[in-house]
Amino acid sequence: MATLFDNHGRKLSYLRMAVTDRCNLRCFYCMPEEGIRYLPKKDLLTNQEILRLVGILSGFGISKVRLTGGEPFVRPDIMPLIRSLVEIPGIRDVHLTTNGVLTAPHIAELSKLNIAGVNLSLDTLDRDRFRAITHRDEFQNVMRTLHALLESSIPVKINAVVMDGKNTDEIISLVELGRNNPVDIRFIEEMPFNGEGSHYNRLEWTHVRILDHIRAHYPGLAKIHDPEFATASGYRVPGFAGTLGVIAAFSRTFCGTCNRIRVTAQGTLKTCLYDAGVLDVRALLRQSADDALVSDRLLQAFLSRPKDGFEAEASRQSNPVSESMSTIGG
Ligand code: GTP
Ligand code: 5AD
Ligand code: SF4
Repeated sequence: MATLFDNHGRKLSYLRMAVTDRCNLRCFYCMPEEGIRYLPKKDLLTNQEILRLVGILSGFGISKVRLTGGEPFVRPDIMPLIRSLVEIPGIRDVHLTTNGVLTAPHIAELSKLNIAGVNLSLDTLDRDRFRAITHRDEFQNVMRTLHALLESSIPVKINAVVMDGKNTDEIISLVELGRNNPVDIRFIEEMPFNGEGSHYNRLEWTHVRILDHIRAHYPGLAKIHDPEFATASGYRVPGFAGTLGVIAAFSRTFCGTCNRIRVTAQGTLKTCLYDAGVLDVRALLRQSADDALVSDRLLQAFLSRPKDGFEAEASRQSNPVSESMSTIGG
């Protein structure tokens, strides 16, 4: 299998593919409650186009694919896509990031398909607060998914966005989920990808503060070995079945080992989460029957990556960032 290094010597092996911009929740940190204009269906990549693209990328050494959204399970043909993706030679790991509202009924099949992991977004353990954050009363469906995942053989991570004044008092309750469950709970710095561009003047709950807060409750907190290319810095509370992690998504401490590329819901390539999109892959796929030409254009983009998320953000025509995470997929 080929190995591809970018212009900063970083190996590229991980594709994050946003399969839709639609979502059945309205988390305020991701998109505005009203006035969202979803992409027309014809603007989304079809399953056939996604499979072709992943096939081409696997030739570059991409071996891990994460399906994101929006919410992947609102895409009607998501299961046929997953069934085909796991068959692509060279794609060793297919992962999903989901909000869990519609996921539970698919878990038995996902497990049979050897899905490498499911990351479940869950910011609170309180039903009313869940409704306040997401603007939808779907807490019980998400918990159903969490329980089904824990009973399955699929590795599960929980993603909790840490929001100043909204859920910081639940950080410890969320950590406690790992006492008896083999789950990795990751606390994520809030980023400005909320569709409005508003953000704190200063991020109060940085990765440092989140960790200090957790350590104050669990003085025995121990650092664990992080897998190569990890976004999260991982820890274990002695005696706990699960682990926890902190993702410095806004502070961007892990750019030096970034192995990720992204394709947005409208089929735009991003070589950094913070760039404005560097290649219209959808147009290329629709214009060109020739894989060699598509590969060539992709390669040019891979060899022109910004060195980190700060450089990517600074090079945007309109910075700072403001687009909704629902089109990017995180
Ligand atoms: P694993 O593959 O299980 O480690 O998950 P992941 O962290 O790659 O993906 P996930 O979809 O669970 O994302 C968790 C959080 O990390 C989200 O808030 C993402 O936006 C953020 N994230 C993922 N990759 C990057 C990245 O390359 N840069 C930044 N700044 N944030 C990222
Ligand atoms: N800041 C940080 N994380 C975010 N996510 C969505 N929007 C934001 C944001 N503004 C997270 C979701 C999901 C992951 C893909 O990205 O919670 O778990
Ligand atoms: Fe990679 Fe950009 Fe994220 Fe840094 S901010 S880790 S370069 S995607």
